[in-house]
Amino acid sequence: MAANRIICTTNDVDYIAIRRAMIGGARTVNDLKEKICVCGECEGCKTELPIILSTVCGCEKVSYDAVLAAIKAGADTVEKVGEATKAGTGIDKETGEPCGRCKPLIQNMIDLGR
Ligand code: FES
Repeated sequence: MAANRIICTTNDVDYIAIRRAMIGGARTVNDLKEKICVCGECEGCKTELPIILSTVCGCEKVSYDAVLAAIKAGADTVEKVGEATKAGTGIDKETGEPCGRCKPLIQNMIDLGR
């Protein structure tokens, strides 16, 4: 698993907190401001939040838009989204085991339809 790091340096909000907020339904910088108090103005927020928000699966480099398109095309389970996009099918580079870190976010996207 990649090391956690501070993204919002103004309010000390880290990557894992941002991903957890996304799993809880956050999809925009404003959502993150409301849920976990990112400032939206520091260098980390300006440069990294757009990338984090637009990516679902870092292992397979699958975007939010690609996962959403698969869901809208009928993929209604995490496994079907994986078949359509490869999201959730990556291997952890450190352990060699299946990763699946992004699966809760994929499930939340299926649940919310966004
Ligand atoms: S982040 Fe998606 S499988 Fe690792």
